[in-house]
Amino acid sequence: MEQDLEKIGVTRNESGYYIYDTRMVLKQEYDKYTSEDFEVWKILYERQMANLPGKATQEYLHGIQKVNFVADKIPVFDEVNEILKKATGWQVHVVPGLLPNKDFFELMRGGNFCATTWLRTMEQLNYLEEPDMFHDVFGHVPLLTNQALCDFLRNLSNIALKYIDSEAAIEAVARLYWYTVEFGLIQEEAGLRIYGAGILSSSGETDYSLQSDKPQRVPYDVKHIIDTPYIKDRFQEIYFVVDSFEQIYESITEIEQYIDALVESELKSA
Ligand SMILES: [Fe+2]
Repeated sequence: MEQDLEKIGVTRNESGYYIYDTRMVLKQEYDKYTSEDFEVWKILYERQMANLPGKATQEYLHGIQKVNFVADKIPVFDEVNEILKKATGWQVHVVPGLLPNKDFFELMRGGNFCATTWLRTMEQLNYLEEPDMFHDVFGHVPLLTNQALCDFLRNLSNIALKYIDSEAAIEAVARLYWYTVEFGLIQEEAGLRIYGAGILSSSGETDYSLQSDKPQRVPYDVKHIIDTPYIKDRFQEIYFVVDSFEQIYESITEIEQYIDALVESELKSA
């Protein structure tokens, strides 16, 4: 795959980010999926679908039905996009892997959610360093049917692009993204539930995030999140709990105020 990408002008920089003209539309090459890919999707899908009822937010479980994900078929992006377009106007945008911040946020501002098309191997079922399609698609896509969450992402991208050259601002945005769409919990009437894709796509963290007595679970708080570094190589030590997706969307003004102030103090001390 790497070689094919080079042919069309896609390269990686020293940090491993993919560099290319993101206006170019990369395609999901469905006929290249192997029987192992289908098997991996099926195993992961069945394991999580047995695990998530009573643990994932209702909105996610409804979302899975809306986008028609099933065990026996790796999702076809064109079909998923038809559904998302009608639901929220968003779409899944094929990327080879991690993109530089500016490209990532520019795509997201336009309602394009970046997703890889490759799947982990059978040996990698439980741990991966870089997100694959099971994380990007199974984890994130069902909630892209939720308008408040999509609007939050679009607004967060605008803030990131306003301060794209400020390291402190981008780190703050990354933490907000991390502790909401990746590792967020939500308090529902029936109990505490998961909406973060990093948890929804990990069978181990699904139970740990809700049941373990090790991590802290605290109410959603913009300043607290901005002050909390995130953990990439093991389960989280703290989860932030929202009351609703509207709460996250409505916090955008507060987020912008904090980040404006952060950048101002960064400029003063420079
Ligand atoms: Fe993700």
